[in-house]
Amino acid sequence: MPASQQTDVIEKILHSLSRFFGEGRITPQDFRRAIDLYTSLPFRIQIQVWARLICLQPILKAIEEYIPVTSDRWIDLGCGHGLVSLLVASRRKGTILGVEASPSRFAIAQRAAHGLQDVTFQHGNIAEMSIPPSTTILLIDVLYLFPDDIQQRILINCARALTHNGILLIKDNTTVPRWKYGYTNCEEKLKLLFRAYDTETIKSPNYRTPDSWRHLITQANLQIHAELFIKSPAPYPGIIYVCQNSSHVTL
Ligand SMILES: C[S@@+](CC[C@H](N)C(=O)[O-])C[C@H]1O[C@@H](n2cnc3c(N)ncnc32)[C@H](O)[C@@H]1O
Repeated sequence: MPASQQTDVIEKILHSLSRFFGEGRITPQDFRRAIDLYTSLPFRIQIQVWARLICLQPILKAIEEYIPVTSDRWIDLGCGHGLVSLLVASRRKGTILGVEASPSRFAIAQRAAHGLQDVTFQHGNIAEMSIPPSTTILLIDVLYLFPDDIQQRILINCARALTHNGILLIKDNTTVPRWKYGYTNCEEKLKLLFRAYDTETIKSPNYRTPDSWRHLITQANLQIHAELFIKSPAPYPGIIYVCQNSSHVTL
């Protein structure tokens, strides 16, 4: 089968599978574009990217619904292979900076973004860096990798970096329903045990109850505009928070 037909098939399969992880508006064409950006990478990496791609529908949906089209300075903290940054870049105007601590993931993101003007990746530690002023900050499946005090520090730094109407969008996991939490906690513990992220992290995921997430966020001078529980049959208890700096709330 020619390569382009193979990609057609992969694109359709991945798009169908993605519905299992929640509703969203990532189209087959978006899948195609994302798949194409990583085709020069080893097959092992492409599979990791595909596995991530099928989980992103509800996250991109929240971004479409809650981030104003006027947002023009984005930062994606702990951007991994750069997939979310690249999907955002293909749909929105403005610049996007992805920051990643793992040297291998950073290198993959950079390679995937080769030739794209508005997307930049930076190798760095989000717990230590000074976050530049941003209209949108993304923390997608990252905070759980840090102990309490560092989670708090990152959120305080995000609150400070948000511009007047800026929005911080956090996606993480929570502890309900219990069976999803049990599954996700085990899966992630194994990943951390085997150093799946190729960077220093805690040994056990720091997921929180909804009350505890709310408390952490509001303690960082952030106001929660929306709390969204991701509804899907997949065994991941995803939760999304849309936040603004409490000192300049306008939503
Ligand atoms: C579960 S992955 C999520 C990646 C990406 N946000 C996504 O949604 O596809 C968590 C990422 O955070 C990165 N990370 C962990 N600690 C970090 C740190 N201190 N600074 C920057 N990135 C970090 C990991 O290397 C990993 O790529």
